[in-house]
Amino acid sequence: MVKGSFPVDKLRVVETPFYFYDLQLLKQNLEAAKTEAERYGYHVHYAVKANANDRILETIAKAGFGADCVSGGEVEASIKAGFPAGKVVFAGVGKADWEINLGLDNDIFCFNAESIPELEVIDELAAAKGKKARVALRINPNVDAHTHHYITTGLNENKFGFNMEDMSKVVDLLKTLTNVELVGIHFHIGSQITDMCPFQNLCVRVNEIQDFFEQKGFKLEHVNVGGGLGINYQHPNHVPISDFEAYFKVFHNHLQLRPRQQLHFELGRAMVASCGSLITKVLYVKEGTTKKFAIVDAGMTDLIRPALYQAYHHIENITSDEPFEPYDVVGPICESSDTFGTARMLNGTKRGDLIALRSAGAYGEIMASRYNLRKLPGVYYSDQD
Ligand code: LLP
Repeated sequence: MVKGSFPVDKLRVVETPFYFYDLQLLKQNLEAAKTEAERYGYHVHYAVKANANDRILETIAKAGFGADCVSGGEVEASIKAGFPAGKVVFAGVGKADWEINLGLDNDIFCFNAESIPELEVIDELAAAKGKKARVALRINPNVDAHTHHYITTGLNENKFGFNMEDMSKVVDLLKTLTNVELVGIHFHIGSQITDMCPFQNLCVRVNEIQDFFEQKGFKLEHVNVGGGLGINYQHPNHVPISDFEAYFKVFHNHLQLRPRQQLHFELGRAMVASCGSLITKVLYVKEGTTKKFAIVDAGMTDLIRPALYQAYHHIENITSDEPFEPYDVVGPICESSDTFGTARMLNGTKRGDLIALRSAGAYGEIMASRYNLRKLPGVYYSDQD
């Protein structure tokens, strides 16, 4: 039996809960990203934080993308998966010394630096190795991404990056740091952005900021506008391919690059969200006074997005063809936020049925925890026997 894109007979024998990755869909999505980016000669780094599963990383590396990392662990995993170090960018407000040293030892593409003390430490550690660190400044553009406040990052009140008011001071400091080379500027306004207006506003800010650097006599080799392209979690066919075309076009139309300047992106969700589903088994169907609960064996420990951000994931019963009925789909964790969806229309559901939570390829498996001393979810790939 195959329901939608799921090889149900194969999935029935896998221990639940587990992530099912459709590698074909991943490749299709990567191809779309590549075609649209290449149209304008743009460089895309995959934001490893979205999903660092080995096979996913290897597939993305093989497709020719760079990697955007936020920890030493991610830098190591990326290089191991086959991303060339020369295509690795390393961001984050709190890089530890060993992580900076790791980046220096591997001669990564650049560090996205976020504060004056960090620049000073990078300079000191690079000097100790007799190297010159390539650095881009992460600048807070103060652009509202109009997304969930937990995942908006480009406002002055957020902890990320330098504020433009401090930039003259930073630029003066850079002139004194002999082991740091300023190669670019970096921005990121937030995640799950589906309206293109915030990106257009970002372009306007970047153009102004570029003028500042030009006036100060800096020639920047690249501009990195981060990631944030959202996906349609409610897509009718439940296999959304991201709208890379509209996204890159906004930058092409509104960003003024200087001669020979490169434009870089750090996309996470848009590249991997659609290829992953969390597959879970129904443990019990409990009749409440006014509603039915489908109690499943996956919980917020396996997919935290609904509990943490009230995120919507499409839910379907992939083993039933019974008439649709409303269910609250809940997990076994001792927290009332451990609810995947309320009043969701599912085919008539019974103990032992398999439920799929769709578009869980980004910020799903990677955010799993062992709270309640649960096992981490398993993994099953579409090309597996
Ligand atoms: N670059 C930087 C500097 C970032 O902070 C992020 C994500 C990205 C790129 C990739 O953004 P994307 O293209 O995936 O939107 N756990 C949350 C999302 C947190 C995003 C954090 N930063 C969620 O499940 O929605």
